[in-house]
Amino acid sequence: MAIKSLLLSFVSIAVLFQTSQAAAVKRVACPHSTHTAINPACCSWYNVLDDIQENLLESECGENSHSALRIVFHDAIGFSRTKDFGGGADGSIIKFGDTELEFSANAGIDETAADLQPFADAHGKTYGDIINFAGAVGVANCPGAPRLQFLAGRPNATAPAPDGTVPDPFQTIPVILARMADAGFSPAEMIALLASHSIAAADEVDTTIPGTPFDSTADQFDTQIFIETQLRGTGFPGTGPHQGEVESPLVGEMRLQSDHNFARDDATSCIWQSFADNQPLMSQKFAAAMKKLAVLGQDVSKLIDCSEVIPIPKKTTVTPHFPAGKTHADIEQACATAVFPDFPTLPGPAQTVAPVPPQ
Ligand code: HEM
Ligand SMILES: *[C@@H]1O[C@H](CO)[C@@H](O)[C@H](O)[C@H]1NC(C)=O
Repeated sequence: MAIKSLLLSFVSIAVLFQTSQAAAVKRVACPHSTHTAINPACCSWYNVLDDIQENLLESECGENSHSALRIVFHDAIGFSRTKDFGGGADGSIIKFGDTELEFSANAGIDETAADLQPFADAHGKTYGDIINFAGAVGVANCPGAPRLQFLAGRPNATAPAPDGTVPDPFQTIPVILARMADAGFSPAEMIALLASHSIAAADEVDTTIPGTPFDSTADQFDTQIFIETQLRGTGFPGTGPHQGEVESPLVGEMRLQSDHNFARDDATSCIWQSFADNQPLMSQKFAAAMKKLAVLGQDVSKLIDCSEVIPIPKKTTVTPHFPAGKTHADIEQACATAVFPDFPTLPGPAQTVAPVPPQ
């Protein structure tokens, strides 16, 4: 009892201390804006924030927020540690869109590039900055997501990335991991980045069923992707199989062959499984890997930290679960050193996953 109240008083002192620290940070009013900033150099980004939230992302974890994250990857991964190409996170996918958007792995990105370009031009921002800003804001619109770092000041891209830098879902795990290693990412970082598929859907894999999600909760940055990809597949959402697609466990859900294989490969299955019941771990590892991705090929010493502009995401309302009709018996155990965690099953009849509506 005494120890408990002693602890409590420590906690309240800590809270008081934090509050007074927060109040001590000086904020300046931004011109032509309702916002205040800690760093005045970040003021202009608040205007971009208001504009893209209102006119593109709609402050929702919808299709446009999802697409804003996907383009971050497809732009940045055009980078190599061994070969002389690619400016990484430099906006080349917009600046040299005539070249890069023709690559088959970039199918569908043309729409996102066309959506973002006018915001960059209107606000005098480079394409590398707008992509990474919109990606971080898009992620922040998704409950459960981490608040990503945002650094501003990338120069204009000077050359397109060559074809073949973006992984395809039909490639083998060793091939994908080798490409990621060439860009500087470990297998653990690859899996952390794939938390992105928690807020994702496919338009191009099966073009007859656009907006087909990869998990049953595409509007939340939760761990369901890591649970549902480990369930035995039972069918295709459309008239599959299409290239890069394998059977999924739920009607209306799509499973990428690469996600399926990452969940089962000896190199990655235990990391995959470790995120299934650990939202904070998934969120933290994703944020760390994104921090690296967002500045690939950039001189970080020349960038300024405008993370303050990125909204604070809401908490997820999803409790990790097996979809209705599924239990631990439907799990295809892959990790050799630990049993896949158990979850409660959602009540009700077998679930049908609704498509992500177009925006
Ligand atoms: C092994 C690596 C990866 C492969 C093979 C892959 C493949 C794909 C494919 C095929 C789609 C569906 C595109 C469509 O048909 O419209 C997709 C969607 C998506 N991917 Fe990936 N991806 C990979 C890694 C990543 C990474 C690292 C990120 C971000 C950090 C990411 C973010 C997304 C998002 C957010 C979507 C959904 C876009 C939307 O709903 O509009 N992916 N991915
Ligand atoms: C990027 O290029 C545009 C013209 O395409 C130019 O207006 C802008 O000043 C350049 N930005 C930087 C940071 O070099």
